[in-house]
Amino acid sequence: MSAPALRSRSAAGYRPHVTAILAMSADGKISDTHGTAARFPSANDQRHLEQRLATADATLFGAGTLRAYGTTALVKDPALLATRCQRQQPPQPTHIVCSRSGGIVPNAHFFRQPVPRWLLTTQAGAEHWREQPGFDRVWIAPIKTAGEYHWPQILQELHTLGMGHVLVMGGGQLVAGLMAADVIDELWLTICPLIIGGATSPTPCDGEGFSLDQAPRFTLKSSQTMGDEIFLNYQRQGSGPSVQ
Ligand SMILES: NC(=O)c1ccc[n+]([C@@H]2O[C@H](COP(=O)([O-])OP(=O)(O)OC[C@H]3O[C@@H](n4cnc5c(N)ncnc54)[C@H](OP(=O)(O)O)[C@@H]3O)[C@@H](O)[C@H]2O)c1
Repeated sequence: MSAPALRSRSAAGYRPHVTAILAMSADGKISDTHGTAARFPSANDQRHLEQRLATADATLFGAGTLRAYGTTALVKDPALLATRCQRQQPPQPTHIVCSRSGGIVPNAHFFRQPVPRWLLTTQAGAEHWREQPGFDRVWIAPIKTAGEYHWPQILQELHTLGMGHVLVMGGGQLVAGLMAADVIDELWLTICPLIIGGATSPTPCDGEGFSLDQAPRFTLKSSQTMGDEIFLNYQRQGSGPSVQ
C-alpha cells in the first residue's frame, strides 16, 4: 500500500515516514490573526502540495485547518492518480482530522468530498460523533500526558495498517504537537512573497515553543525558486529514513 519505500524507526518501533508541508509568508506566518483560509500561495504551490499528497497513504490535519477551509486538498491530476493506482494505493489518502473536542460542523463540504475520513479524537470528542455519520472511523487516541496524544503509538498503528508515508498539512498547533513528540522526519516549506505580521497569526509550528538548545534541527536537502516563491525541503537531523 505504501508509496515511497520509506519508513522510520522510533523508540516504539517502526512507524511511517512523516512529512509536514506548509506555505508561509516571508515573515513566517501561515495565515492572518483571524485564522482565515490561507489561499495566498500560487498555483505552483498548489501543484506542489498535490504532488506531495499523491505520495501519501494518510494525511493529518488539525481541526483549525478544517474549520478555516471547510474542505481538504485532493489528488486530481490524472497522471498522479494513475501512479497511485500502479502502486496499489487508493485514489486518495486517508484524511485524518485531529480534534480533541470533536467539534467539527457536520455540514462542512469536507464531508461530501471523495476521501476516506477519520477523526482522531478523545473519548469526549468521540461522543459528538456517536450518532452522527461523517467519519469512516472515529479513533480514540492513546493519550501520553495532559491531553497530548501519544504520537509514536498512533504512528505505529498506522504502520501496522500498511501506511508508510503520512503527510501533515498543518496547522501550526498540530505541527507543534508532532514536533514536540519528535516524529516529523521531513519538512517542506514554501516561502511566499507577502508579509502578514501580527503577534497571534499562526506560524508553521506554534504551541509552547522550544528553548534554543532543545530546538529540533533540520538539514536543508533542496531549495528551488519558482516565480516569486521558494520551495525548501528539510530533513530532520538524525532521522534518516530507512528503506523497507
Ligand atoms: N499556509 C499553510 O500552509 C496552512 C496550512 C494549514 C493551515 N493553515 C492556516 O492555519 C490556521 C489553522 O491553524 P491552527 O494552528 O490554528 O490550527 P490547527 O493546528 O489546524 O488546528 C488546531 C486544532 O486541532 C486540534 N489539535 C491541534 N493540535 C493537536 C494535538 N496535538 N492533538 C490533538 N488535537 C490537536 C485541536 O482541535 P479541537 O479544538 O477541536 O480540540 C486544535 O484546536 C488557519 O488559518 C489555516 O488557514 C495554513
